[in-house]
Amino acid sequence: MNCLVTGAAGFIASHLCRRLLKEGFKVVGIDSFTDFYPKRIKEKNIKPLRKDENFEFITGDLNDLDLKKILKKTNYVFHHAAQAGVRASWGDNFSVYLKNNIEATQKLLEVAKNRNLKKFIYASSSSVYGNCPDLPMSETSPLHPFSPYGVTKLAAENLCLLYCKNYGVPSISLRFFTVYGPGQRPDMAFHKFFKALAKGKQIPVYGDGNQTRDFTYIDDVIDANFASLKKGKVGEIYNIGGGTRKKLKDIFPLLENICQKQVRLARKEKQKGDMPHTFANIEKARKDLNYSPQIKLRDGLKEEWLWTKKLYSS
Ligand SMILES: NC(=O)c1ccc[n+]([C@@H]2O[C@H](COP(=O)([O-])OP(=O)(O)OC[C@H]3O[C@@H](n4cnc5c(N)ncnc54)[C@H](O)[C@@H]3O)[C@@H](O)[C@H]2O)c1
Repeated sequence: MNCLVTGAAGFIASHLCRRLLKEGFKVVGIDSFTDFYPKRIKEKNIKPLRKDENFEFITGDLNDLDLKKILKKTNYVFHHAAQAGVRASWGDNFSVYLKNNIEATQKLLEVAKNRNLKKFIYASSSSVYGNCPDLPMSETSPLHPFSPYGVTKLAAENLCLLYCKNYGVPSISLRFFTVYGPGQRPDMAFHKFFKALAKGKQIPVYGDGNQTRDFTYIDDVIDANFASLKKGKVGEIYNIGGGTRKKLKDIFPLLENICQKQVRLARKEKQKGDMPHTFANIEKARKDLNYSPQIKLRDGLKEEWLWTKKLYSS
């Protein structure tokens, strides 16, 4: 069986490629190495994959590549390529989000509609909920994205649904809630915190620290992707969260304990587009995908600390 993974050099998709190869799939990975964060980190992510004879890597932008040719032998698509990051999505930069999140998704779906795909799994986001009145957030909760990034993720999710209903593209959307662990993107909070601790610097904190997040460990997210391939119901959307909700300010004592270093905070203004709270109701994923997050926050953070320390010592 052949899988196409877009955004393969990125944080989540590189872990996913590793898992798919381990499970015996042939994997074609695509990535354009956008400049959102350093290429050296993405190269590191895929270095071990390049050695696998069942892995083929294509450097290129989904908007420019000959997708018809690439999808010829594909059975499963995991569409993870995107311009991530909430805070950078304002202003002139929005055009990058339009191109990589909406236009690229539409191009891929146009090609996918003429193929006999088994599943088309889209990496959506908790950002589609925005300031949601429901906590925890369910798949049926109102959707009011609070950032331009969230708007583009919701638009792409809707495109997946449209191509499913009109053309039979077997799409499933997984709404990930703040993913962390080894390989986490440098713009994300835990990466920044650990980097600051490794370098003996102050930790930047936006707002008063009372915002809450549902943190999801990378291995649990990969389990959910893999389970969707096997059991996901076509046309459905699933919340993929870690199952617990933490206040940002309660993370710092945990970090001190894990890193054995004193945390010094540098308070910054609340950022536009940041959601006050995220918390996933994961009952639907539990039922259909048998999804059950396994990794406790403390254990996951330890793994990320080890990875980040190594990244910045080389
Ligand atoms: N990390 C999270 O907490 C989180 C949460 C919710 C949703 N998501 C979604 O999961 C997916 C993966 O996120 P991530 O954190 O691994 O991000 P990432 O930035 O590490 O990975 C995305 C990859 O896509 C590539 N890319 C972007 N546009 C492309 C294009 N047009 N053609 C080819 N490649 C392109 C980038 O170069 C990058 O390597 C994204 O769709 C993101 O929106 C992530």
